[in-house]
Amino acid sequence: MQNHYLVTGAAGFIGSHLVDALLARGATVTGIDNLKLGRRENLAPALKHPAFKFYEADLNDPAACEKIIADQSVPFTGAWHMAANSDIRAGVADPDVDFQDTFLTTHNLLKLMREHKIPRLAFASTSAIYGDLKQKLTEDIGPLFPISNYGAMKLASEAAISAAAESFLEQAWIFRFPNVVGSRATHGAIFDFIHKLKKNPAELEVLGDGTQEKPYFHVADLLDAMRFITDHATEKLNFFNIGTSDTVTMVKYLAETTVRAAAPAAKIRYTGGNRGWVGDVPKVDYSVEKLRKLGWSPRLTSNQAVDRAVAEIVAEMKTF
Ligand SMILES: NC(=O)c1ccc[n+]([C@@H]2O[C@H](COP(=O)([O-])OP(=O)(O)OC[C@H]3O[C@@H](n4cnc5c(N)ncnc54)[C@H](O)[C@@H]3O)[C@@H](O)[C@H]2O)c1
Repeated sequence: MQNHYLVTGAAGFIGSHLVDALLARGATVTGIDNLKLGRRENLAPALKHPAFKFYEADLNDPAACEKIIADQSVPFTGAWHMAANSDIRAGVADPDVDFQDTFLTTHNLLKLMREHKIPRLAFASTSAIYGDLKQKLTEDIGPLFPISNYGAMKLASEAAISAAAESFLEQAWIFRFPNVVGSRATHGAIFDFIHKLKKNPAELEVLGDGTQEKPYFHVADLLDAMRFITDHATEKLNFFNIGTSDTVTMVKYLAETTVRAAAPAAKIRYTGGNRGWVGDVPKVDYSVEKLRKLGWSPRLTSNQAVDRAVAEIVAEMKTF
């Protein structure tokens, strides 16, 4: 039987790439997005595909989503839950944002899945659930105390998925993403830098002192890793950190690469301090050993992922 997947957050950065990848594998895909952060243009190739249907709807509107699911003639093989608030700073300013779009979307999707007997769930979690721990971040450490509402609501979503796996899901995969970069970005440091440079090509203001380090990961590697994990991780509830093998990128490298590609005459001005904004985790030591043991390794280092993403996003914006 042909696979039919529900993708939430389908018009977002990662969701739209996921839709393309699932269609390329021969699946039928139904996408939902309220277009709050996502863009219809991200779905331009998919919208031409006969096996794709897109619905502009809010996951927190149960009646609308109920109708979408009930209207499908082919039952769903599984759901990929990518919808969330991806603007961590918006969630720091207003905790309702993450409660609604990061947690309640998961809760409402799980209710729909139970009602319509959708057996499998793949979920986009985050390294932000670990908070600011000064140790290697392996999947089995705890207790976890996130330092952003976003991280808190993702951790709560993981807990809700765990309970659903116990009661009605056949299988679930939780992916703890690092900072993912690539074309169609809707947010993130590279996206912010390019937008700032568009406004002011003479100067780039960078929060912090430029020494903050994070692992960056290209969306092409992410899709490959998610596919590998869903194909090979066979527990009822599977949870994996996804990321680069021990490579990180300094904000300074990110800023310099972006300036070189987008506005070479710009001067970089650092605001100082080693923390960019409240809720930001300055240094991350992310373990991807569990994923390596499963048999998957990334193709790109963190800096290579940044190089490729900067080139893609600058080319996409075509304004420089
Ligand atoms: N990009 C990253 O670096 C990163 C890192 C860790 C985790 N994640 C997670 O991966 C997923 C995809 O992230 P992304 O970077 O593509 O972000 P994104 O903002 O581009 O995509 C999320 C999509 O969800 C949609 N959405 C939000 N609330 C909704 C609602 N109530 N109903 C329907 N649609 C709604 C948005 O419009 C958006 O298109 C998210 O769950 C995010 O938390 C992303």
